[in-house]
This record gives sequence, C-alpha cells and structure tokens, in this order.
Amino acid sequence: MRYGRTTLSKFLIEQTRGDAALSDLAALLIDVAAAVKSISAMVSKGALGGYLGSLEVQNVQGETQKKLDVLTNEAMLANCEWGGLVAGMVSEELEEPYAIPGEYPRGNYLLAFDPLDGSSNIDVNVSVGTIFSVLRHTANAAPDATSFLRPGREQLAAGYALYGPSTMLVLTVGRGTHGFTLDREIGNFILTHPDLTIPADTSEFAINVSNERFWEPPIQRYVGECKAGRSGVRERDFNMRWIASMVAEVHRILMRGGVFMYPSFTKDPVRSGRLRLLYEANPMAMLIEQAGGAASTGRGRMLDVAPTNIHQRVPVVLGSSNEVARIERYHQEFDCGADQPYVSPLFNERSLYRQEAT
Ligand code: F6P
Repeated sequence: MRYGRTTLSKFLIEQTRGDAALSDLAALLIDVAAAVKSISAMVSKGALGGYLGSLEVQNVQGETQKKLDVLTNEAMLANCEWGGLVAGMVSEELEEPYAIPGEYPRGNYLLAFDPLDGSSNIDVNVSVGTIFSVLRHTANAAPDATSFLRPGREQLAAGYALYGPSTMLVLTVGRGTHGFTLDREIGNFILTHPDLTIPADTSEFAINVSNERFWEPPIQRYVGECKAGRSGVRERDFNMRWIASMVAEVHRILMRGGVFMYPSFTKDPVRSGRLRLLYEANPMAMLIEQAGGAASTGRGRMLDVAPTNIHQRVPVVLGSSNEVARIERYHQEFDCGADQPYVSPLFNERSLYRQEAT
C-alpha cells in the first residue's frame, strides 16, 4: 500500500517550512531530483540507450569525456536553470561557471555538481552517481567563479544520487542525512532511510592501494596497520573495499560505517589528491557529518577548507569518526616529527618490490 508514504516533496516542504532562510530550497531540490530521474533513466538503459562509450574530447580535468558525462551535465543544467531559483552553476564538466540564460529569472542559490561521478564504471555496469552542493548567492550581481569559493560549512544543502540496483537520493538540508528510494512505478522518491547514522568504529577501509607507494607516511602507516590485522597494533582484522565510485563508497559508509581515503599523491605535487573540493569532497563531508561521521583532509576539517579554485582537488579522509580521528592524529604525529615514517613490508630490503623514488 502506498498511501501514507513520505515522498521527497512532502519531506522537503516539512523540513524547510517556517524557515525563511531556506525558502525555495525545497523547490530547488525537487528540480535536482527531476534531473536525477532522467539521469537514472539514461543510465539504466545501458547499451540499449546508445549512450555508452567515450567522446574524442577531454573535460577541464584532462579526463576523456564519456557520452553520458555530457548528457547528464545537460540534464542537470536544463532541469535547474529555468525555475528562477539558481543564480549560477559550477559543473565538473564545464571550465567556467554556467550563467543562467537571460530568458530566465536569476535566483539566490549557487549549485555545484558532478553530474556523473565514477563514470569510468559506466561501461562495465557498475554503480555511478550524481553529487551536488547548494550555497546561497548573497550579491545582487550575477555570480562569477569567486562567488563559489566558500568553505563547505556554508552549504545549505548537499546530496547525491546513486544509480545502483535501485536509484537512491541521499540528502541533507543541515537537519540530518536522509535516504530516498525511487519508486519507478509512481515516479517518486520515497523516504526509506531516515536519519542515517554512521557508527563511530569500523573494521572496513576503502582506498586505491595501487597508489600505495605515492602516499604520505601517515596514510601508509594507517593502511599498513589495518592490513597487519590482529597480528599488528590494531589487534583485529580489517576488510577492504574499492569500487572506484565515490558515491557508492560513501553510500556504503552511510549504511554500515567504514573509512574512505583518497589521499594526495607525492608523485604529482600539483594534484593534491584526485577528488574535487566543491562538488565532491564538500557535499560528501556535509552528508557524513550530518550522519555523525567525520570528514577531513587528514590535516583539518574538510568543511573549513577555504577554496581557491572552483575545480581544486583535495585529499579526502571520511567516515567513521574514531578512524578519521586516528588518521588525523597520524598526520599530526608525522608533521611534528613524533612518528617514524612507516615502511611497508612490501618494500623492505628482502621484498620483491623496491620503493620508487618520488
Ligand atoms: O573522479 C572521481 C572518481 O571516479 C571517484 O568516484 C572515485 O572514488 C575515484 O575517482 C576513483 O579513482 P581511481 O580510478 O584512481 O581508483
């Protein structure tokens, strides 16, 4: 029976009712949800939709664009530009902020998004997602790139859609983190996961271990201790997961705890990590904090980072709060010299491997 179920619209109207500061936010998030529904339809058609494969073009990140990167970006722009709610948009797929076309009224919100996160997974039918962040635009003038350079703690709302076996929308307006599942029969998102809470402790970590030789010593130390399991200082065994789709990793952490890391590469000092601050790290950090977890660069709270560039990258450590605190402590100990650099047993003198010079 469907009667009585809480739809996304009902939930959002109730969450924002009576709060003048959040007026129109529900309407904007419903526009985002409309974009998510059309992206979900495209993604779920797979090869039948003719959308798979790459274009001969690179995006601003220097990554080869998939056809779906372009189509999903258009879906976000088209659904959010016309309603008079948004003042400007930043997308992973666009070098400059998107200006609202003159035929539409300009609103008071700034929307930053990654329309198809984890898109390398699309051709192999593994979960991908859309990530978004909402800020207020306070000036009268149209926004430019600097208008978006605000710390993540100023976000009014943040969320992601996960295109997995079911399509889910997980969002926060600063009053907890809540999950909705798309009921395809009626075309509505239904509240299925209210008040998500991340356990403070975990025995599961997620990191791309192929980069191990490029990590900083505190991350090598942490992961080395997890891998040593019950025979090491942690005295218990850990499990590892890596989907290469941040949305899917964060969703798992919101469901059952865990810690996710994408640290900086010492191999490439210009790229401070891989993930983008404005439309990946910050919205995920707000969702994680609102669910009782923690999100950090390893050297400070993610939501306090002052952005300098709309496409800036940042090291990311997020998830169960006690593990994030431990990783921050390892960074502090390393930075003040209280720590011996961790040397992976893989790279000791008798190992098959040799540590590469970085
Ligand atoms: O660009 C973002 C992203 O696809 C994330 O969704 C994912 O966590 C990461 O990149 C995967 O990176 P890698 O291919 O280095 O494992």
